[in-house]
Amino acid sequence: TGCWTYDPGFGSTAACESKITYIDGEKGILLHRGYPIEQLAEKSNYLETCYLLLHGELPVGTEKENFQKIINQHTMVNRSIEQFMSGFRYDAHPMAMLCGVVGAMSSFYHDSMDINDPEHRLITAHRLIAKMPTLAAMCHKHFIGQPYMYPDNSLSYSENFLHMMFGTPCEPSNINPVVAKAMDLLFLLHADHEQNASTSTVRLAGSSGANPFSCIAAGIAALWGPAHGGANQAVLEMLEQIGDEKHIDGFIKRAKDKDDPFRLMGFGHRVYKNFDPRAKVMKEACDAVLAELGIENDPLLKIAKRLEQIALEDEYFVAKKLYPNVDFYSGIIMKAIGIPTEMFTVIFATGRTVGWISHWNEMLSNPYRIGRPRQLYTGSPKRDYPG
Ligand code: CMC
Repeated sequence: TGCWTYDPGFGSTAACESKITYIDGEKGILLHRGYPIEQLAEKSNYLETCYLLLHGELPVGTEKENFQKIINQHTMVNRSIEQFMSGFRYDAHPMAMLCGVVGAMSSFYHDSMDINDPEHRLITAHRLIAKMPTLAAMCHKHFIGQPYMYPDNSLSYSENFLHMMFGTPCEPSNINPVVAKAMDLLFLLHADHEQNASTSTVRLAGSSGANPFSCIAAGIAALWGPAHGGANQAVLEMLEQIGDEKHIDGFIKRAKDKDDPFRLMGFGHRVYKNFDPRAKVMKEACDAVLAELGIENDPLLKIAKRLEQIALEDEYFVAKKLYPNVDFYSGIIMKAIGIPTEMFTVIFATGRTVGWISHWNEMLSNPYRIGRPRQLYTGSPKRDYPG
């Protein structure tokens, strides 16, 4: 009854209007505010792309410099967050910690914040963009048992993240410019991707008027799964499991077997039925980074390249239009630049935060209703309680 349609997985339902990101999955096109991702990857940087996603236009004049200054004002986190972090088990997964700690941030910025005030919403966006690298690096430091590092505002966004990840109070990190550039590109290529599961989760949580930090925590939870952002960690684990080029065929066979739940991680996409344009940029960057770091012969990377080649020619993958996605190559680059595997999805979350908060802000800037999907009830008909 009622006027609604059944659409499991929302394959054909638009839940909102948006001016932020455009995707043509058949042609493999991705535009942020109209600008092709390839051009942003080549000519822009992460922080400028954040400005673009948030404000709708590229910064002009002093706007870029001012944005950097504003972000710098917010890079530190309250010291109580350190105490909060210390409650996690020493080996807690960094995504579990990130989800908890970002949710906890809502307790610092709640009563003082009016989500209906555009200025307040903008400050929230700035806080999140600025604090995510600090929180992400804290999760890593807790995991490896090292002291937390304070942000260094004299560094670029990505350099600062690497400094907090790899530096120690005894020895500042030696930041390799090739690695910093790759890090920036990784953040940029993850910045937004319209209504994916995590962004839709942020919108849905936000549609009830919830605190934005808790909405982002909900987005982080949705991102963690292996079908979404967790795929980058799963790709590396799969490559390690394959172990040798001679085992690739066996894994391809398993991926094609209907009775085997195994899927080739880093392949396939709900929207792209062509090469994911981010994957193309990532692949080129991957080749360049490996060459510059002189590690093209890494055995895992050789397996990845061979696997890609075999899958792209396999009739099952061709017929189902399953191409490598962004997570296939990002894992390889992250491994090459020394990011530990359990941090891969945290890096995705850090880069995607601007997308999440831009969508939240866009929703609250326009008339909206609480998100409330319907269902097809398939349970028991009415019955009487026994006795
Ligand atoms: N390996 C083997 N078969 C696959 C794969 C794969 N990676 N992906 C899809 N298929 C098959 C699937 O079995 C189904 O076959 P059939 O039509 O015979 O039942 C068909 O292709 C369509 O798959 P689907 O599950 O209906 O497609 P979906 O749009 O619901 O799922 C996906 C998209 C990305 C979850 C899926 O392709 C997948 O699980 N891929 C592996 C995980 C992955 O790499 N995720 C990252 C996604 S991209 C960025 C991000 O969100 O983080």
